[in-house]
Amino acid sequence: MTGNVDSVKGIDETEAAFLKMNVKLGSGETIVVDAVPEMRILDLLRASGVPIKAECGGACVCATCHIRLPEKWLALIPKANEEELHKLDEIPGADDSSRLACQIEMTEELDGLEFEITADSLSDVKVEAAG
Ligand code: FES
Repeated sequence: MTGNVDSVKGIDETEAAFLKMNVKLGSGETIVVDAVPEMRILDLLRASGVPIKAECGGACVCATCHIRLPEKWLALIPKANEEELHKLDEIPGADDSSRLACQIEMTEELDGLEFEITADSLSDVKVEAAG
């Protein structure tokens, strides 16, 4: 009896849907957060209970979802558009590693993504566990 190629392919696709992000918090603690493709990083963080401020809810208005990414990951993410660049300009201390979590969509290529949520973009709530 031969195996069913379609079902094997289906298992692979299911496994690919569960990605991870390594998120450093202002305290220096790093947590692992589950991710799936085509969701914004901001929404994935919120779904896992990470206390990111994101006061405008992802409308690119508040700049309180400020994250910093290592260069190797920045290279895999589409460049910021004019609206995001304008908001980043308003953040004291923002630099070339800065992005807004509400403007980045997760992809399979970003599995293992590493970034830091800046202290200014975290609420005071203590994180118990995420991911
Ligand atoms: S959530 Fe407000 S700018 Fe990203």
